[in-house]
Amino acid sequence: MEILIAKNYEEMSKLGYDVIKKVVTSKPNAILGLATGGTPVGLYKNMIEDCKNGVVSYKDISTINLDEYLGLDGNDNQSYRYFMNTNLFDHIDIDKKNTYLPNGKAEDRQAECERYSKLADEMQQDVQILGIGSNGHIAFNEPGTAFDSRTHVVDLTENTIKDNARFFDKIEDVPTQAFTMGISNIVNAKKILLLASGANKADAIYQTIKGTPSENCPASALQNHPDVIFVLDEAAASKL
Ligand code: GLP
Repeated sequence: MEILIAKNYEEMSKLGYDVIKKVVTSKPNAILGLATGGTPVGLYKNMIEDCKNGVVSYKDISTINLDEYLGLDGNDNQSYRYFMNTNLFDHIDIDKKNTYLPNGKAEDRQAECERYSKLADEMQQDVQILGIGSNGHIAFNEPGTAFDSRTHVVDLTENTIKDNARFFDKIEDVPTQAFTMGISNIVNAKKILLLASGANKADAIYQTIKGTPSENCPASALQNHPDVIFVLDEAAASKL
């Protein structure tokens, strides 16, 4: 396990990007596991800038995302597909047909979960980018999720709904369910890059890195991974 401490969000984003840049330049057809949320947006901005400057190309890169809200179409501006298009894919030279997220509108949920887990197995992320919830969740694997879980439908906790309400007009608009990769689909990645910024993540980061691995803190499953890099700003690292 490697832990890098950055002064602030900007430096965290830059250090995180350096990890991705290394993967993409050494393997031009790499598979990137991507995450949503506010945390990776700065890293995505670094990717966009270097791509625009011709330093790095994504034309042979494929991506697979962690999760998607249930019931939202990819054109819905609150869907994670829309988030990825507007925060990254629309601004780099990636072929969008090589970018994958769960289908939030899938009618047969079980079949969608199985399809997505199989896809994750086949693709196997060269690097998986992760944020972390203030309760230690990764993707939408809430506390209590088994470490060997595969893609499943989750009922979001009140805590997560509250945390994510800032992206919506009102809290009632936040979907209450999502498709999420399971913890086993995440730790199957060859390398994990977890980013965290802000004092509200400090407890979760402490439990993730220093706590005994337990389902109470889903991110603590990463302690068993052979190649994980945590890039934290000083506030998120303040309880270590
Ligand atoms: C959501 C996403 C997670 C993300 C978390 C933290 O729950 N499903 O993948 O890590 O939010 O978001 P933020 O980075 O905005 O704090």
